[in-house]
Amino acid sequence: MTGPRQRELLERESAHLAPGASEESALGRRVFVEGRGAVLTDLDGNQYIDLAAGTLTQSLGHCHPEVVAALTEQAGRLWNVHDFATADRAALCELLAELLPEELDTYAFFSTGAEVVEAALRAVAAVAEPGRGRIGALRHGFHGKTQGARMLVHWDIGHQAFSGNSVLGYSPYCYRCPLELEYPSCGVRCASLVRRHIAEKPNISALVFEPVLGAAGVIVPPPGYWEQIADSCRENGVLLVADEVLTGGGRTGTFLASERFGVEPDLVTLAKGLASGFPFAALAGRSAVLRHPEAGRAGSTASTYANNPLGIAAAKATLEVVRRDTLLARVTELGAVLDERLAELHAKYEVLGEVRGLGLLHGLEFVHDRTSRRPAPEIAQAVYQHALDLGLRTAIGGHVLRLAPPFTIDRALLEEGVALLDRALERATGDTR
Ligand SMILES: Cc1ncc(COP(=O)(O)O)c(C=O)c1O
Repeated sequence: MTGPRQRELLERESAHLAPGASEESALGRRVFVEGRGAVLTDLDGNQYIDLAAGTLTQSLGHCHPEVVAALTEQAGRLWNVHDFATADRAALCELLAELLPEELDTYAFFSTGAEVVEAALRAVAAVAEPGRGRIGALRHGFHGKTQGARMLVHWDIGHQAFSGNSVLGYSPYCYRCPLELEYPSCGVRCASLVRRHIAEKPNISALVFEPVLGAAGVIVPPPGYWEQIADSCRENGVLLVADEVLTGGGRTGTFLASERFGVEPDLVTLAKGLASGFPFAALAGRSAVLRHPEAGRAGSTASTYANNPLGIAAAKATLEVVRRDTLLARVTELGAVLDERLAELHAKYEVLGEVRGLGLLHGLEFVHDRTSRRPAPEIAQAVYQHALDLGLRTAIGGHVLRLAPPFTIDRALLEEGVALLDRALERATGDTR
């Protein structure tokens, strides 16, 4: 239940605040006042284990002391000098060069996920051969809410879709296979159809994709999917643009999720976990693309907040901790624990149609029954709300709950979080075994 001080504040605010909030905050109705590590505190003093890590942003947890120190120091010194060099920017470039695959050696900095996706689209348009005016995208992909990014979004998320100039490919959503086939006997037909599409359409300049589709509910492709599609893009001169706004920075156990699938993108977008939730994003690319004279025209990477010193300081501090504390290995380790615990829940509750994930990114898909697989958003909502009442924060989107704990969470706290989720499931399903 939302406590009395929070209710009063929400009431006051609603007199002026425009509607249109996320499902999460509209259903959750909480006012958070503090975050420390993996724990949030609300205005009435209740605490929550945050297995959503902010907006899947707080890879180091909330208010990591080294990121706070870097931001505080920078805040007392310099906030904005357009895109002039700052003391930290060169160091951030060097850190990225160390953490990213070798060929991704050129960077530009922005403020949000959608902004960096737009920058990637501009770079693609700048280097595209004449006649290649279209962009490939995947059904169920999500890339942001600006016009260019929305052009790549094809699923039913209301006003956000604006299919424009993109060409759609099948996503690897095995649980709800668009071709009504079963893996592995399907031979990953979804990928061979995308492959054929790419080969037959000479007007595509790039494929923009999430290696693991996050917003759609953590759709993890089966072996063979990316290999086939990446090969076909290479053979046909189509650039690979990995949108790793959500997965980048280590969330799946490698710095890029693309690495787990053997995909070698030409451009990569990074944001959420990059600067511990401070608005900041990076475009990483091969020098052949980002140093191309058309892509590198004066002003092409500049905007009011692009390159801002605060974001750079937060990103540098975040990545230094990721590297020093070997957090990628920790993601893999804790991810295995999460996998195991969630498999237990899957075995216990019929309404959990599928539980899937990679590293510290998991999705729980709720259904009315496992035979019909009919989506059950009302059950997901009930679990989400019971979990909050019990002191657990998750992320909700339709009939899927997502879990994306901080990389730094204690194993015991992670297990406690899953135990609370078990209790929330018990309450929501009336199952008290
Ligand atoms: C893969 C991906 N790309 C782009 C975006 C858009 O980022 P932002 O909300 O910062 O504009 C998101 C946001 O969730 C995302 O998950």
